Amino acid sequence: MKFAAALALAGAMAVDAAVLGERAAYAVKGKPEGFATGTTGGGSAACVVPSSTAQLKTWLADNVARCIVLDKEFNFKGSEGSVTENGCRPASNKCPGKGGQDAINKASWCTNGNAGAGVTTIKVTYDKAGVAGLTVGSNKSIIGVGSKGVLRGKGLRIANGAKNVIIQNIHITELNPQYIWGGDAITLDGTDLVWIDHNKFSLIGRQMIVLGNGASNRVTISNNEFDGVTSWSATCDGRHYWAIYLTGSSDLVTMKGNYIHHTSGRSPKTGGNSLIHAVNNYWYANSGHAFDNGAGANVIAEGNVFQNVVTPLLENKGQFFGGPSTAANAVCAANLGHTCVTNSFGSSGTLGGTNTGFLAKFKGKSVASVSAASTAPSTKAGVGKI
Ligand SMILES: *[C@@H]1O[C@H](CO)[C@@H](O)[C@H](O)[C@H]1NC(C)=O
Repeated sequence: MKFAAALALAGAMAVDAAVLGERAAYAVKGKPEGFATGTTGGGSAACVVPSSTAQLKTWLADNVARCIVLDKEFNFKGSEGSVTENGCRPASNKCPGKGGQDAINKASWCTNGNAGAGVTTIKVTYDKAGVAGLTVGSNKSIIGVGSKGVLRGKGLRIANGAKNVIIQNIHITELNPQYIWGGDAITLDGTDLVWIDHNKFSLIGRQMIVLGNGASNRVTISNNEFDGVTSWSATCDGRHYWAIYLTGSSDLVTMKGNYIHHTSGRSPKTGGNSLIHAVNNYWYANSGHAFDNGAGANVIAEGNVFQNVVTPLLENKGQFFGGPSTAANAVCAANLGHTCVTNSFGSSGTLGGTNTGFLAKFKGKSVASVSAASTAPSTKAGVGKI
């Protein structure tokens, strides 16, 4: 008996060792560059694999430092039921039933004038899980395995003081894409130290990333794919209008190495009190604008590629430095630690942006490095690429 028990124990230990070995292989890859330098997420916490959407929800929200591994699709569609209520067909939907996007009446958007003249009330039916993201607590790493880590039907929300979060290598998709206000993939509102790296966003009703009015402090958005291809376009052209919204009250945002394609606007919309460093990103096939720079936003865009982007910068109500020329770019050195690098344009409009007074705000901060625009890594961005 003793011998058999020892054998069983040895067998169990071998299994545990194998499981441990497999789990030890899961880890955040690389380190954040730019403003969110120092973000550690779950730190040295052992990586754990949730077995259900309920367990994932609990682990994301609790007060325990965690490395949470998504090794499959977690589908939240239908998990909270659906809602049918009055929404609207906004003025922007000039192609109803043929690729346009209707709206949920969130925050009275349909009735407060934002939906434009000629808006009509219609019934909308949407999935409830999509409209509010999963709460994410402090000290979490959320990482996907290969290209298997998918969040379907629900996004992530880091808010109310939660901080130090890494989201790497996951795909967030299908948040009521037919409706404006159908859901945001990642919401930050009152946080610090967030690194969003190598993810993919597709078929999102509202914003793919939104930094709300609260201070989001230090954020790095790197190597993500923003895929705007949609059958429900607010601009009636198969492209998603609402991609990235950066209007927090005290935000430092590094956008590096992202691939932003087939969008038609707000890629990003900036404002609030934000300092934004957009470097070595690749914009492609944008039928409207990439940047819309609102009052209060301070943006440097350097070393980026704009390929088939109709309007790289819609308007500049804030401060914008677009790396206009090698001679003009020397001004960056004293503040960023490098001479800014010119952007590259193929079949695109112009960027402009010659404000320099705000560059001193970069001094002493963690500033991402820059490479020549031709190396913008569109093929390395997104899920399953690390
Ligand atoms: C997060 O980690 C830091 C550093 O270990 C710790 O001080 C803080 O209390 C943690 N936060 C939470 C909510 O557990």
